[in-house]
Amino acid sequence: MPTCLITGANRGLGLEFAKQYAAEGWKVIATCRRPALAEALNALEGEIEVHPLDVTDFARIEELAKKLDGVPIDLLINGAGIYGPRVVPYGSVDYAAWAEVFRVDTMAPLKISAVFSKNVAKSKLKRIVAITSNMGSIGDNTSGGSYVYRSAKAALNAVMKSLAIDLKQKQIAVAVLHPGWVRTDMGGPGAKIEAFESVAGMREVIDGLGLENSGRFVNYDGTDLSW
Ligand SMILES: NC(=O)c1ccc[n+]([C@@H]2O[C@H](COP(=O)([O-])OP(=O)(O)OC[C@H]3O[C@@H](n4cnc5c(N)ncnc54)[C@H](OP(=O)(O)O)[C@@H]3O)[C@@H](O)[C@H]2O)c1
Repeated sequence: MPTCLITGANRGLGLEFAKQYAAEGWKVIATCRRPALAEALNALEGEIEVHPLDVTDFARIEELAKKLDGVPIDLLINGAGIYGPRVVPYGSVDYAAWAEVFRVDTMAPLKISAVFSKNVAKSKLKRIVAITSNMGSIGDNTSGGSYVYRSAKAALNAVMKSLAIDLKQKQIAVAVLHPGWVRTDMGGPGAKIEAFESVAGMREVIDGLGLENSGRFVNYDGTDLSW
C-alpha cells in the first residue's frame, strides 16, 4: 500500500486525512507539534506512526528527513496552517504576526516539500499537495481585507506553482487544494461542510493528480480555481 506524510495531523483536516488514508490501508506518517497530546490521532486505527514536528523548525525537518532517509513517500500533504489575526484593518496589521503566518503557511511547505521530495521521487505515485485557500486567489478577491492570510496563501500558491514546474523533472506532480469552508477550529461552527466531505473530495482530486495536470489550483470538488 502507498505511504503518505501529513503535517498538522493532530486535528482538523490533517487528522481527517490521516483517518481516511489509514482506513484505506495506507501507511500514514503523521506529524504534529505535540504527539503526546494528540489523543484523536493516537486513537486512530491502522498503520500510523507519529512524529513531532513544528513546521517552522527547519532543523527538526532535516532531522526527520534523516530518520526517514530512503523511505518512499507516495503523497506529501502540507496540511498545517494558521490564519493569524482576524478582522484587522489595513492600518493596524500586526507585522510580527504576519511574519509568523508566512513562516507556517508559505515557507514551511516549501522547505518540507523540498526536503522530502527525495522520498517522494522514490515512490510509485509521486505527489505533493498543499492545503491552500480560495482566500489566496487574487482573481476571486471581491471583499478585500484579510491581508495576512490572503497574502500568505497567495504566496503559497506561487511557491507551489514553481515547484510543480521544477519537480516535473523528478516526475513529481504538485497541486494546491482549497478544502472548501470546513467545520474545523479554523473554519468555525458556521462553516458549510464537514471535514469528512472536504477530505473525501480532496482525496479524489489527489487520485487524479499526475504530471499532465500538475500545478493546479483546485477546489475540493475538482473544479479549477482562478489564481
Ligand atoms: N477550515 C477551513 O474552512 C479552511 C479553509 C481554507 C483553507 N484551510 C486550510 O486548511 C489547512 C488545515 O486547516 P484546518 O481547518 O484543519 O485548521 P485547524 O483545525 O485550525 O488545524 C490546524 C492544524 O495546523 C497545525 N499547525 C499550526 N501551526 C503549526 C506549526 N507551526 N507546526 C505544525 N503544525 C501546526 C495545528 O496544530 P496545533 O494543534 O499544534 O496547533 C493543527 O493541526 C490550513 O492550511 C488552512 O489554512 C482551511
